[in-house]
Amino acid sequence: MTKRILLTGGLGYIGSHTYVALVAAGYDVVILDNLSNSKRSVCDRLAQITGRDTTFVQADILDEPALAQLFSDYDFDAVIHFAGLKAVGESVEKPLEYMQVNVTGLVNILQAMQAASVNALVFSSSATVYDVSNTSPLREDMQTGFTNPYGYTKLTCEQILEQAVAANPSLKTGVLRYFNPAGADVSGLIGEDPNDIPNNLMPYISRVAIGEYEFLRVWGDDYDTPDGTGVRDYIHVSDLANGHVLSLNALLDRDESHLVNLGRGRGYSVMQVLNSYSRACGRELPYQVMPRRAGDIAEMYADVERAKQVLGFTVSRDLDDMCDSSWNWITTGAKDA
Ligand SMILES: NC(=O)c1ccc[n+]([C@@H]2O[C@H](COP(=O)([O-])OP(=O)(O)OC[C@H]3O[C@@H](n4cnc5c(N)ncnc54)[C@H](O)[C@@H]3O)[C@@H](O)[C@H]2O)c1
Repeated sequence: MTKRILLTGGLGYIGSHTYVALVAAGYDVVILDNLSNSKRSVCDRLAQITGRDTTFVQADILDEPALAQLFSDYDFDAVIHFAGLKAVGESVEKPLEYMQVNVTGLVNILQAMQAASVNALVFSSSATVYDVSNTSPLREDMQTGFTNPYGYTKLTCEQILEQAVAANPSLKTGVLRYFNPAGADVSGLIGEDPNDIPNNLMPYISRVAIGEYEFLRVWGDDYDTPDGTGVRDYIHVSDLANGHVLSLNALLDRDESHLVNLGRGRGYSVMQVLNSYSRACGRELPYQVMPRRAGDIAEMYADVERAKQVLGFTVSRDLDDMCDSSWNWITTGAKDA
């Protein structure tokens, strides 16, 4: 029988791509989102991509009665929980808001699941939970830590899940530590479209490419990396989306919890990303080297062995695919989204 999944934050960047992957894998999906960082028009785009109507409920994860209603209206087999706040800088200014939405929001979801006897949850964690003293490749058993309220909320959520599982053996969780999602669906109809100045490198470069920003600021070119600029593990958002399908399959078929990194398992430098994007958009993109930013580290990339072993996770898209699809999105779909 078709399994029904609740996707919180399903109209956002990673959620919308995961929706496409879930429908392709035969799941029946209900999206919950409060539209605080997404647009209703994404629903129509998702219908266009999948050829099926989208089921969308506009609600907030802090609204407990709305959650109870949702869980009584639908029989869910599992939940994938994306809804949350994700801007590191903003979290420093508004730590309580981040704790409320990210931590209380997760607790609300867990309580609604428990009341409805839904026992499988995939959770969006982040590579930010690794302590900065670790050396890459980062393995799941390495030291965790946090340097800002956003990281604190993700680490706290992981610990809450650990304790919830310990107290309720029926509950199974897939904790996915994302590295740096980038790129867009091949259709060009969905992608990353931040309302404010982008926090992530690729959407920032894409705005340089369309002329909205004059140049890219490169924060430091004297790191101990091949070209001196910072190295991060970028993963195509559609590969990341497939990781969620694998995680869900593992929870529903094998009834086992897991905690894995989702990355490519290699790093790309800021200059490599900029060069690949220049190739994608057909012109040399301007940049200026600035001093290092406090708190930045030279390189950070995932060890992906556990994701391979436990989920059978592999990636099929490279940096050029990320830049080509981002450019396609920003010059087509993003314009009238
Ligand atoms: N994008 C990244 O680089 C990255 C990296 C690691 C982890 N994550 C995590 O992955 C998840 C999804 O990230 P994303 O990049 O797709 O972000 P996003 O902002 O594009 O998507 C989040 C969605 O959740 C919705 N939302 C926010 N607060 C809500 C609330 N209170 N109730 C209901 N809906 C709410 C937003 O409207 C948005 O559509 C987040 O939990 C984020 O912390 C993202």
